[in-house]
Amino acid sequence: MQLTLVKNYQEMSECAANQLIAELRRLLDEKERVSFLPSAGKTPTLLYSILAEKYRHAIDWQRVDIFQMDEYLGLEATHPASFSAYLYQHLIQPLSIQHFHFINQFDLAKMAAYENLIANRGFLDVALHGIGTNGHIGFNEPGSSIETGMRFVELDESTRIANRNLYFESLDDVPKTALTLGLQTLQHTKRNILLASGDTKVAAISRLLKQSCFIAELPASALLMAPYLHLITDTISE
Ligand code: PGA
Repeated sequence: MQLTLVKNYQEMSECAANQLIAELRRLLDEKERVSFLPSAGKTPTLLYSILAEKYRHAIDWQRVDIFQMDEYLGLEATHPASFSAYLYQHLIQPLSIQHFHFINQFDLAKMAAYENLIANRGFLDVALHGIGTNGHIGFNEPGSSIETGMRFVELDESTRIANRNLYFESLDDVPKTALTLGLQTLQHTKRNILLASGDTKVAAISRLLKQSCFIAELPASALLMAPYLHLITDTISE
């Protein structure tokens, strides 16, 4: 694992934007189309603004295919709290990206087709991950097996509390179920950038740094099994 320690959220976002563009540029030199799996959490919001302001013309975004990682069940794509709406607003629209795969309202057959599409492309090229306070990635909650495929999941109470944001009036409005790409697919992504900022992520990152292989109690440890992982964080001091 490559580890970059930064001072704060701003520095993390700038460093990650730089790193992401470097990865995409390198891949676009090698192949015509690159697949990118972006996180839809709060963590990458500043990074996405930096992409729109500073890197809009840095690469040909029409050669980047966006794949969605996870989504709440029961929210329309137009619902402001849906991850589709978030990705559209922060990434797809500002960069005028034309090729994106949303998973909103997927049923089992569509999930199987989506996983096949990803596997047939030789899995994904680049992923940008946040980490849950409970150590999840995507919506793979603690206890998820490394073999799990795309599926419907029940959200941990801690995830629902952490994800309650201005779009949900109360905790009762936060969906209890979701769908997510599984660790089976995520661990095959070639280049992974993991971001963690702030006190709420200290425990999960400390646990991750002590691991050398996957444990189900810490789903983010599946990224240790991926070909390349770069953690950029302000949760530990130098
Ligand atoms: P956050 O979520 O970026 O909103 O903190 C990360 C996650 O839960 O995976």
